[in-house]
This record gives sequence, structure tokens and C-alpha cells, in this order.
Amino acid sequence: MAIRAIEGEGEEAEARPAVFEFFAGGGLAGIGLERAGFRTVFANDIDAAKARSFRANHPDIAMHQGDVWDLTAADLPGAPALCWASSPCQDVSLAGARGGLQAKRSGAFWGFWRLVEGLAAEGRAPPIVVIENVAGLLSSAGGADFAAVCTVMAQAGYRVGALEIDAGLWLPQSRPRLFIIAMKGLEAPETPAPGGPFHSSRLVASHAGLPEATKAAWAWWSLTPPPRRNLDLSSLLIPDVEADWLDDAQTEALLSLTAPLHRARLDAALVSGERRVAAAFRRVRVENGVKIQRLEVRLDGLAGCLRTPSGGSSRQYVMVMQDGRLRARRLTGREAARLMGLDETYVLPSSESAALKLMGDAVAVPVVQALGEQLFAPALRGRTKTAA
Ligand SMILES: C[S@@+](CC[C@H](N)C(=O)[O-])C[C@H]1O[C@@H](n2cnc3c(N)ncnc32)[C@H](O)[C@@H]1O
Repeated sequence: MAIRAIEGEGEEAEARPAVFEFFAGGGLAGIGLERAGFRTVFANDIDAAKARSFRANHPDIAMHQGDVWDLTAADLPGAPALCWASSPCQDVSLAGARGGLQAKRSGAFWGFWRLVEGLAAEGRAPPIVVIENVAGLLSSAGGADFAAVCTVMAQAGYRVGALEIDAGLWLPQSRPRLFIIAMKGLEAPETPAPGGPFHSSRLVASHAGLPEATKAAWAWWSLTPPPRRNLDLSSLLIPDVEADWLDDAQTEALLSLTAPLHRARLDAALVSGERRVAAAFRRVRVENGVKIQRLEVRLDGLAGCLRTPSGGSSRQYVMVMQDGRLRARRLTGREAARLMGLDETYVLPSSESAALKLMGDAVAVPVVQALGEQLFAPALRGRTKTAA
């Protein structure tokens, strides 16, 4: 009986559409896709620490640590249903003639795309390709980077569309990201014209600047937003008694960076006496022509976008105000993982800074899950029906 159950599970796993996860980091794209019924069968990342975290959480998945440029199609197992690439895309338009050293220098995206072409040459082209990036890709190089990515996909016979999605609709973290989604030979839900929260005005403007042939391959993929989020930042925090609070001098030093408007918000929250939680982060701002470090706070129940710590400026703080007292501390790696939609079983690196780097680079799990459930899985199911 037990054996049959295990066999059944194995067959069921085999039946799930296969994913190659490039620029995989800690594997959060794969976790979101797994929740939507997919399975990652191959992953790649250049960073040794990220690869260690990936393996700690996915011991059964083949993780290749190394430069994407060092891979060839022969290293990739079978025919994937979906290739996911959270690829650094800035500067992709500098590639010019794609190939050789010039392309290699121009960014990892072409290293990834070369593999998609290699798979296609062997009849193993993925019917779905997803590129995840910061929304800045829409405007980098005056829009040429975005156009380069969309155009190469359109030229390869894909229908291409993009969504700008803020994870804050699902999780208490403001995290806008761009998802470029290409599909070949599949039909997925789409709208005839842009509309709704994910076809942002800057996306619509960038689409308008695409070459006509790329626009002809365009699709406004349709995604339904989730029900109203009922979690806020305070509900994801570790208990106050377990937290490592800054001492009074450190708290004062931090508060001294607060911009006047933000200070006024904190003061108002303090006066109320009620428990209020704020997220705070340091930013370099230009005031009167001078660069100045400022502490910016938000009291809307959301954390600011998690970033990779660099020079200490992007580390996020938690402030708790209660009974007229303000205490501050750093956001922990576990809290960051919760803000990305991970559950407590996710294994984080033991160093806090490594955990925060891993999470700051990652993709929010419920956003990927929603894409998988609403777009990718229905598209693939439609293909199976057509084939039958
Ligand atoms: C934005 S992060 C993606 C994180 C991932 N989606 C996650 O959820 O954890 C980009 C990743 O690309 C990796 N990377 C950058 N250049 C690379 C290259 N040339 N080859 C392979 N991986 C690369 C980085 O190490 C980093 O983990």
C-alpha cells in the first residue's frame, strides 16, 4: 500500500510540467511555480553562497553553480515547459551583434537566451519563457533594453507581453517587479487592450515605443489581483522579547537622520500611545544640491522593498511605538523571508547579512504562484487538450 502511494507520487511528480530556473538564487521562483503544480528539474546560479542555499532547500534538484555563459544546451535535461530567468537585463541593448565577447560583456541575459536558442535548435524549445526584472528595465537605455528583450523573443516566434506587479498586493512588502512573459503555440488569458493594475502606465508607454514587428507579437496577458491582503508588517514580526533592540544612543543616532516630514509621522504615532509599527530605511537624497543620508519611515503596514545590503544603506529597520516609547531594531533574515512569502521551513544561511542578501535579490513567491496558476498552467492545459 505504502509503496503504491510512493509510486503514485512519483508518477504525479513526473507529470508536472518541467521548469529550468536560471539566475535561480535561493529558488523562490521554483517554489512559487511548485505551488502552481510545476517542478524545477534544473537550476543555475553563478554565486556560490546562493547555490548553497538553493541546495539546502532543494536537495533533489540539479543545481549547476557557474556562469550561465559556461552552459550549453547539452547540459540541460530534456524539454522544459518553462524557462524562468530572473536575469540581470540592464545593458542588454549594448550587445549589438549578439555573440562572442561583446555579448558576454553586455550581460547575462544573452547567455540565457543563447540556451533557449540552443534548445530550439534541438526541438526542445520551451513554450513559456519568463524574464523577471526590476521595473527600471522599462526605461533603462531609453527603453532600448526592454525593446531588445521583447524583440528577440518575438523574432523567435513567441507572443510577448509584460506585467508590472507589486508583491504588496499579496504580502506586506512594497515590491514592484516587471515580468516579461513569452509563449509559443499556447493560448493564455489576455485582454484586447491594456487595463487593470498590472498594465501600468509606464509599461503602456514602453510598449508604445517598441518596434512595430514586436508590437505585432504583443499580448496583454490578463491576471486577476488577489483578494484584499489581510496581513500587515506587524503580523510577520518576531516577538518583541526575542528581538535585538538598538540601545538608546543607537536609536537616537538613527532618528537623527529622519527627514522632518517622516519625523512628524513618528511623533504623531507616538502620541497616540497605541502600538504602531513602522518600517524604516536609509536613503541618500539630494537636498539643496547636497547629498544627504535620510531615514525614511512608512507606517502603512508595509515594509519597503527588500534590497541587497550594500554599504549598510539598504538594511531595513523596524520601529515599534507603544505607550509613548519608540524602540528600533534591524529587520531579521527570517522576517525578510516571511515578507517574500516563504514559510518557516525555508532554510536560511546562518549569517544575517547572507540571509538578507538572498531575500533582497529574490522574487516574491505568491506572485510567481499567481502567474503559474492563472497564466502558465491554463496555457499548458489548453495545449494538451488541443493535442488530444
Ligand atoms: C535577481 S537574482 C535572482 C534571484 C532568484 N529569482 C530568487 O528568487 O532567489 C539574480 C541572480 O543572478 C545570478 N547571476 C548573475 N549573473 C549571473 C551569470 N552570469 N550566470 C549565472 N547567474 C548569474 C546572481 O548570483 C543572482 O543570484
